Amino acid sequence: MSTSPAPAVGPRAFTPETLDLGDSLLRPWSRKDIESPVLLQGLMDAAADPQIALWNPLPAADHAAAVTWLEVRDDAWTSGATGTFALLDTAKDPDTDPCFLGTLTVRWTDRSDGLGMIGYWLLPAARGRGLATRAVRTATEWAFRTAGVRRLELAHAVENEASCRVGLRAGFPAEGTLRASYRFGDGEYHDEHLHARLATDPAPAPAA
Ligand SMILES: CC(C)(COP(=O)(O)OP(=O)(O)OC[C@H]1O[C@@H](n2cnc3c(N)ncnc32)[C@H](O)[C@@H]1OP(=O)(O)O)[C@@H](O)C(=O)NCCC(=O)NCCS
Repeated sequence: MSTSPAPAVGPRAFTPETLDLGDSLLRPWSRKDIESPVLLQGLMDAAADPQIALWNPLPAADHAAAVTWLEVRDDAWTSGATGTFALLDTAKDPDTDPCFLGTLTVRWTDRSDGLGMIGYWLLPAARGRGLATRAVRTATEWAFRTAGVRRLELAHAVENEASCRVGLRAGFPAEGTLRASYRFGDGEYHDEHLHARLATDPAPAPAA
């Protein structure tokens, strides 16, 4: 009796690659971005946004903190532990005149087991047009294909309905509610919905 070949397992490392979304791209954050006043200001603006401060607190309140945040992102790419991308609008030249829309992160929660977690936030002007959903779909496919992710989880506070919609539309069914599982930016523990997508799941339906 023949046995099925074991599924291919990638290097279990997140390796920097720019991902094309058509009207925008996901570009790995790096130390080079410290030279961009626009990107540094974008990070500081994001840190000051009430929704990001509540659901995704960002330690980039001032110039020095934003620089440190970028250095940490760059180091995490080097170790393959976490991949963090800037979402940039391609209506402008991302190298000479970056138009910063948001950030997406993929990290290991159990690297040896291929278990990862995805997170994201957008600046207010970029919200409400399906961008987060498309970014999550693209980055998820990349993580399965290149990094050997077996299962990718997505968690959001139950009150964060927009994030719930992103998860569902990106092919991450809800699996349950985690009670008082995470302390958010208001200093309070909130219940979270856990969503997940397996590398073996069928492709999600096209977004409307
Ligand atoms: C969550 C977030 C990334 C969503 O990004 P987005 O690109 O605006 O999402 P989409 O345009 O794909 O919208 C997702 C869905 O949520 C809905 N939605 C948007 N804001 C909503 C709100 N305040 N309440 C309920 N639903 C909302 C949209 O109508 C859309 O619904 P649809 O699927 O029926 O069309 C963005 O709002 C954000 O950055 N918020 C602050 C940080 C954050 O919450 N990060 C996630 C932490 S888990």
